[in-house]
Amino acid sequence: MSAIKIAFFDTKPYDKQSFDKANENFGFAITYLETRLDARSAELAHGADVVCAFVNDRLDAETASILERGKTKLIALRCAGYNNIDLKAVWQKIHVVRVPAYSPYAVAEHAAALLLTLTRHTHQAYNRVREGNFLLNGLIGRDLHDKYVGIVGTGKIGKIASDIFRGFGMHILAYDKFPDEEWAKKTGAAYVALDELCQKSDVISLHSPLTPETRYLINEHRLSLMKHDVVIINTGRGALIDTKALVKALKKGHIGGAGLDVYEEEEGYFFEDWSSIAIKDDVLARLLTFPNVIISGHQAFFTNEALGAIADTTLGNIKDYVERNVLPNEICYKCGSKDCTKEKFKRCW
Ligand code: NAI
Repeated sequence: MSAIKIAFFDTKPYDKQSFDKANENFGFAITYLETRLDARSAELAHGADVVCAFVNDRLDAETASILERGKTKLIALRCAGYNNIDLKAVWQKIHVVRVPAYSPYAVAEHAAALLLTLTRHTHQAYNRVREGNFLLNGLIGRDLHDKYVGIVGTGKIGKIASDIFRGFGMHILAYDKFPDEEWAKKTGAAYVALDELCQKSDVISLHSPLTPETRYLINEHRLSLMKHDVVIINTGRGALIDTKALVKALKKGHIGGAGLDVYEEEEGYFFEDWSSIAIKDDVLARLLTFPNVIISGHQAFFTNEALGAIADTTLGNIKDYVERNVLPNEICYKCGSKDCTKEKFKRCW
């Protein structure tokens, strides 16, 4: 039997490295393409049994039809989030699987890194000291101990982030559409309504998926409820925050800091080098001017451990499908559930 063909979109050198290593155990024929997947590039996948896609590949109805015509049977996402996929359009044309968890620790630890950088001004201290300036003026930080952190989305990452923040001596407030009361009881976290979380938290860390319901969860109204020195950390998805409203609040000095690993319009910029080109996105450019805003380019997941796990699970998903016709990590378009299996699909239809 000839090797299963995989068209791998939006390839970066580190993807090739981790997937080539993992593929030693699978033997698939992988074609690495640098271009992102969308309706214009989808024909490049013709003849491939499987398409491997990432967070900024665009899978809409048109792309799905082109892939279907090209006989692609499976889209294997090498990420957890799937807000870039029109699941309804793809459903019953091509199966979509994802990597539900690779290293939730990587993301939660990055959230903590962004928070500590902001509260202790490490980014400013680093630049200052390298220029031989050892003045402390303007670098006064604040303790996290005894402060309140609001965790929005208490899934895998949110729970680990809570553990880390509890290690700092913080009190945990939580909001989730599906609260895990047992976890709350065990850890001392308190579930509250989202508005109350916004009012009471000194730090707010976002860990829910992006869905129509969570889009702009942090909007002008909720920003107005927050304490004026609140620090907002977003390692979830950019559009959880109405960025224009955030910029407005930052300009008024109503926000203590924002640590953003994701941005709602990141697609055109993140994962690419724009250092010698003018950034045309005025909102992103404005965000970059605030001393109390730190942006990292969607790198929260980016650890050796996570990359290895992503490659193993992605290729494992493909093997499960081609050898056993099972799809344990298929996404249900209807409920979008992280745990929805084929059997459950029937129930939620
Ligand atoms: P998870 O599925 O384990 O947890 C998500 C939680 O959000 C669940 O508890 C769910 O009940 C909750 N939720 C769903 N709808 C909600 C709503 N309307 N309001 C409030 N909560 C809601 O997912 P996990 O692994 O913890 O990941 C969370 C998100 O982090 C992913 O969806 C993804 O967008 C993002 N992510 C970001 C990465 C990065 O590199 N920056 C890497 C991996 C994930």
